[in-house]
Amino acid sequence: MSTYKEKIDINRLPAHVAIIMDGNGRWAKEKGYDRIFGHQNGVTSVREVTEAAAELGIKYLTLYAFSTENWGRPKAEVDALMELLVDTIEKETPTLNKNKVRLLAIGDMSRLPDAALKKLERCIDQTSQNSGLSLVLALSYSARWELTNAIKKISEDVVAGIVKTDQINDLLVSEYLTTVGIPDPDLLIRTSGESRISNFLLWQIAYTELYFTQTHWPDFRKENFYEAICEFQHRERRFGK
Ligand code: FPP
Repeated sequence: MSTYKEKIDINRLPAHVAIIMDGNGRWAKEKGYDRIFGHQNGVTSVREVTEAAAELGIKYLTLYAFSTENWGRPKAEVDALMELLVDTIEKETPTLNKNKVRLLAIGDMSRLPDAALKKLERCIDQTSQNSGLSLVLALSYSARWELTNAIKKISEDVVAGIVKTDQINDLLVSEYLTTVGIPDPDLLIRTSGESRISNFLLWQIAYTELYFTQTHWPDFRKENFYEAICEFQHRERRFGK
């Protein structure tokens, strides 16, 4: 029986929750295992939180699954993480469909290995008609990459005469980001005790409520998610006004 779940005001849910899933490596090392064991156990948390968000009626859940900086980790860990990500996506596609979850991805997909990209695109395609939760995977993502990419594309359109410089405003910039069409996050959760943003959604989190917890990602369960939502509902949001 959940205690935090009962306290959630279903009429004031965040429309978009983003999560920096941190601490898989530390969790595994503390138990005397290899880092990849932490990532494998992190999949259970992904499943739990996705289910909790879908059940509550949250519209968008974004998970920071792989950053552009993660390409710099040892090859064995990168390969294992990629394989785990795409195999999980492939295996979970029927469950996503059963629960009306639509999969989306943001990031520099050109860096993904061909086989991984194919599996990812297949799942995105097969869940594209679902009208429930949108599960957004940030894969090979970093905010500075995204902003640099947007600046390049806006410049090209200015040179081509498609955009005039005086038309460049907040809204136009948003349309050149990989998150186009996705509302800004209302709540950002980071697990495992670190109080930083690590190059995640820098443009989009301008007015997002930040929530940091000591819990390592592989230990994060539905109840931890409900607790974060309760805390969010106690905050007063003024959006600079
Ligand atoms: C951070 O822990 C976690 C990651 C870099 C990867 C997250 C991936 C998963 C949970 C795998 C499954 C995901 C999906 C969406 C199917 P860390 O390795 O940085 O931990 P540390 O800070 O303790 O070293």
